[in-house]
Amino acid sequence: MAAVAWRLLLLPLRLLYHTLRAGWWLLMPPRPRKLTADTVLITGGGKGIGRHLAREFARQGARKIIIWGRTERCLRETCEEIRSWGAECHYYMCDVGNREEVYQQAKAVREKLGDVTILVNNAGVAHGKSLVDSDDDALLKSQHINTLGQFWTTKAFLPRMLELQNGHVVCINSVLSLCSIPGTIDYCTSKSSSFAFMESLTLGLLDCPGVNATTVLPFHTSTDMFQGMKTRFPKLFPPLEPQTVAQRTVEAVRANQAFLLLPWTMHLLVIMKSLLPQAALEEIFRFTGSYTCMHSVKGRT
Ligand SMILES: NC(=O)c1ccc[n+]([C@@H]2O[C@H](COP(=O)([O-])OP(=O)(O)OC[C@H]3O[C@@H](n4cnc5c(N)ncnc54)[C@H](OP(=O)(O)O)[C@@H]3O)[C@@H](O)[C@H]2O)c1
Ligand SMILES: *[C@@H]1O[C@H](CO)[C@@H](O)[C@H](O)[C@H]1NC(C)=O
Repeated sequence: MAAVAWRLLLLPLRLLYHTLRAGWWLLMPPRPRKLTADTVLITGGGKGIGRHLAREFARQGARKIIIWGRTERCLRETCEEIRSWGAECHYYMCDVGNREEVYQQAKAVREKLGDVTILVNNAGVAHGKSLVDSDDDALLKSQHINTLGQFWTTKAFLPRMLELQNGHVVCINSVLSLCSIPGTIDYCTSKSSSFAFMESLTLGLLDCPGVNATTVLPFHTSTDMFQGMKTRFPKLFPPLEPQTVAQRTVEAVRANQAFLLLPWTMHLLVIMKSLLPQAALEEIFRFTGSYTCMHSVKGRT
């Protein structure tokens, strides 16, 4: 009993300590960890945010970059660019929605290039259609790639990270995982599940020294994915640049930050969502046009 009471008494002090320390780090950030010994594997590294992540990890000193994807031309181009800077880069064709392929290519990577110490789950697809307008196969595909793909890649690389007590699992998630919009229902569902996956993984790693996780939740970013998306106040809510997302992601990994909302103003959205009544939230969605913003996106399958 005494032990429980003592812990209960200590808890608010510990909470205060961690909050103050986080505040202090905002002002005086600790020295970020070096990446010179790291082998980074990025899924969907051929284009979009993934290509910028490959560039940024190379620029910030990672030892080896490995990129996965389904389109060889994009992968080759990205690799050639990074090699031209004198950094080491390799690519493998791999569909993360295909479990056997993931395990097979993970084995090939380990045998040829050694252990992966940073895994970046970035590959993703969006079809941009409502539930009723979507092909059943397209609905399944987004779950297979955006959510389940991470099960397979993480299962393939995490055990070795735990053994070495050296590793980092990164997920490029989305603000939509916390705040869904219509017109891309399968995507929102897949990102929400992927967020739960990362929350669970992050807490599960608490007792695993040397292995950490980072989840990045970016707002709309100017890549091919949601091309044509129109919000009502583009000046007020401009899309993020993929290089900004990549740069902030690598910094968050080096600082071992668990969750990163981009831009920081998205925290206000989360606060409002948990406090305001639904009718008030609907006013906000109407006002900002976020419930119709998918109308201008050309759907893909
Ligand atoms: N754009 C946004 O507004 C936004 C906002 C928040 C979060 N995100 C997230 O950021 C990540 C990157 O998206 P992006 O905007 O860079 O989109 P993108 O330009 O369409 O790039 C997606 C990348 O994923 C790869 N990919 C797709 N399916 C794959 C599969 N089955 N196996 C392996 N690779 C696959 C693609 O390559 P291949 O097609 O060659 O395979 C491509 O390299 C996604 O997870 C997305 O959900 C995007
Ligand atoms: C994991 O986190 C610890 C504590 O912040 C840090 O010292 C270590 O460098 C991190 N390791 C990786 C691989 O991110």
